[in-house]
Amino acid sequence: MKQTIARGTLLLFTWFAVLGCLHSITLEVREGNSTCIKAELSVVLLITYNTSSNSTSVQVPLPNTTTVDAESSSCGAIGGIPSLVATFGFGHTLGLSFSTNGSLYSVDTVTLQYNLSDSSVFPDANSSAVVTVVSSSVGIQAAINTTYHCVSATSVIVGGQIVTFSDARLEAYMPGNDLSQTETTCAADQSSTPSPTTTRTPVTPAPTPAPTPPGTPERGTYSIDNSNGTVCFLAQMGLQLNFSYVSQSQNKTVQEIFNLTPNLTSSSGSCEVNRATLVLSQNGTTSLNLTFTLNSTTNKYHLNGINMLANWADMEAPFSASNTSLDYLRTTLGRSYMCNAEQSLAVVPNFSLNTFRLQVQPFRVTTNQFATAEECQMDQDQMLIPLIVGAALSGLVLIILIAYLIGRKKSHAGYQTI
Ligand SMILES: *[C@@H]1O[C@H](CO)[C@@H](O)[C@H](O)[C@H]1NC(C)=O
Ligand SMILES: *[C@@H]1O[C@H](CO)[C@@H](O)[C@H](O)[C@H]1NC(C)=O
Ligand SMILES: *[C@@H]1O[C@H](CO)[C@@H](O)[C@H](O)[C@H]1NC(C)=O
Ligand SMILES: *[C@@H]1O[C@H](CO)[C@@H](O)[C@H](O)[C@H]1NC(C)=O
Ligand SMILES: *[C@@H]1O[C@H](CO)[C@@H](O)[C@H](O)[C@H]1NC(C)=O
Ligand SMILES: *[C@@H]1O[C@H](CO)[C@@H](O)[C@H](O)[C@H]1NC(C)=O
Ligand SMILES: *[C@@H]1O[C@H](CO)[C@@H](O)[C@H](O)[C@H]1NC(C)=O
Ligand SMILES: *[C@@H]1O[C@H](CO)[C@@H](O)[C@H](O)[C@H]1NC(C)=O
Ligand SMILES: *[C@@H]1O[C@H](CO)[C@@H](O)[C@H](O)[C@H]1NC(C)=O
Ligand SMILES: *[C@@H]1O[C@H](CO)[C@@H](O)[C@H](O)[C@H]1NC(C)=O
Ligand SMILES: *[C@@H]1O[C@H](CO)[C@@H](O)[C@H](O)[C@H]1NC(C)=O
Ligand SMILES: *[C@@H]1O[C@H](CO)[C@@H](O)[C@H](O)[C@H]1NC(C)=O
Repeated sequence: MKQTIARGTLLLFTWFAVLGCLHSITLEVREGNSTCIKAELSVVLLITYNTSSNSTSVQVPLPNTTTVDAESSSCGAIGGIPSLVATFGFGHTLGLSFSTNGSLYSVDTVTLQYNLSDSSVFPDANSSAVVTVVSSSVGIQAAINTTYHCVSATSVIVGGQIVTFSDARLEAYMPGNDLSQTETTCAADQSSTPSPTTTRTPVTPAPTPAPTPPGTPERGTYSIDNSNGTVCFLAQMGLQLNFSYVSQSQNKTVQEIFNLTPNLTSSSGSCEVNRATLVLSQNGTTSLNLTFTLNSTTNKYHLNGINMLANWADMEAPFSASNTSLDYLRTTLGRSYMCNAEQSLAVVPNFSLNTFRLQVQPFRVTTNQFATAEECQMDQDQMLIPLIVGAALSGLVLIILIAYLIGRKKSHAGYQTI
């Protein structure tokens, strides 16, 4: 217990998000007139660095001003390695290098270089170094002459930093100047849209139940501030992650029920006119993004995106799950959404988010307070029970009263006739 608290304090960090909407970027490597590598994707980097007092994480989406560094990139002619090097900001780069065995091609290494002296991305960094980290086993692969297609978020750990690709279409060793029409769908997308024959989905043994269910999570209060310091997003909730991963120590898939601990969780995010994202991070090893969008035609908002990333010591590979076509917590603009009852929000087949005593307002927060709440159906049903009991009781009282009055009137009338 003591140890947990000490570690928590140590790892308690603030979360400076440079988080906008996810930009889809297009990158191309050319040689002469022909394109050999092309990528259309969104990339977010989760980088942990040291400030003078503690350790901090930032989420860095690759901006749409990202360009290809033509000098470092290569089509792999004259014995070189085909590689795509993207560059953005003050000397930050992300490089992918490819290889093929004739029938398959794959991303072999991911190289991340970031410049800690760029204080707009890394505020208060206590170093001004340009850090380079490399990961050599990646797992992005596709059949040659096809486009690798992966809508699901795929994360790669690069020297302790996390690179997450999503909504990706990419191809190397391209036969033409544009992405091939034929696509190889990544495994993560296949699990949700069962496609026949083509590829083997990895057979995972049935998950065993978690040894100790953690009970109801503590309720936390999270908010996002505008640039002018006013709160633009307000949330109070207990959150529980329910997901399965392959445990290294147990050498099998385990079902994990994990409660977010509010005072070990830092929050940040972004508020835009039609979209707001709350980013929660616990200990820099687990992060959860909740994205709400507003439909300005109907003046309703809903939770459409949930993104979870976990990088625990016992995991064989970092866990990442994302779904941006959800439709939960639908509410009218100007109101908050409330649900005291437990709700289970399915995200992907192996991850769901359980919420407890929840109230959120992602838009139009004024004076740091929740507006009038719209309650979920479950709460309304639960309110109905005391209402029915109440109605029944008052009905009973009424009947007794009427009976009493009739009785009195009768006896009164009887008295008069005598
Ligand atoms: C977290 O909160 C609990 C109770 O609210 C408190 O006892 C504990 O000391 C807190 N831990 C940290 C690391 O602040
Ligand atoms: C590139 O294309 C132009 C015109 O389409 C042509 O004149 C030129 O020779 C080509 N260059 C190469 C290296 O193929
Ligand atoms: C932060 O500082 C600690 C202690 O000096 C060091 O072990 C760690 O590698 C540093 N982390 C980064 C990301 O530089
Ligand atoms: C940066 O801070 C960490 C602790 O947060 C410390 O261990 C490290 O020595 C510091 N590095 C520099 C260059 O000051
Ligand atoms: C790192 O950033 C600083 C300031 O933002 C800049 O002056 C420097 O040139 C950058 N370094 C590289 C290698 O781009
Ligand atoms: C390429 O690698 C894949 C998987 O590692 C293998 O199934 C395939 O037979 C290999 N192709 C060639 C031509 O070696
Ligand atoms: C890929 O396409 C190129 C050009 O169309 C062709 O020459 C090559 O044989 C194809 N490779 C495979 C493995 O189909
Ligand atoms: C703060 O900024 C938001 C938009 O960024 C604006 O709607 C709000 O009125 C501002 N509040 C104050 C007190 O200036
Ligand atoms: C966790 O998810 C599994 C599989 O979807 C489900 O069977 C189980 O009931 C869930 N547990 C909780 C506490 O939500
Ligand atoms: C893990 O389990 C698999 C099959 O269940 C087995 O083949 C493998 O040897 C095990 N690995 C370790 C390190 O125990
Ligand atoms: C808003 O809702 C209307 C009616 O449901 C729908 O037709 C429209 O596509 C929605 N707009 C957006 C941006 O989702
Ligand atoms: C995302 O959520 C939608 C709606 O709940 C569901 O139909 C879809 O299968 C989910 N996608 C994945 C990848 O699980």
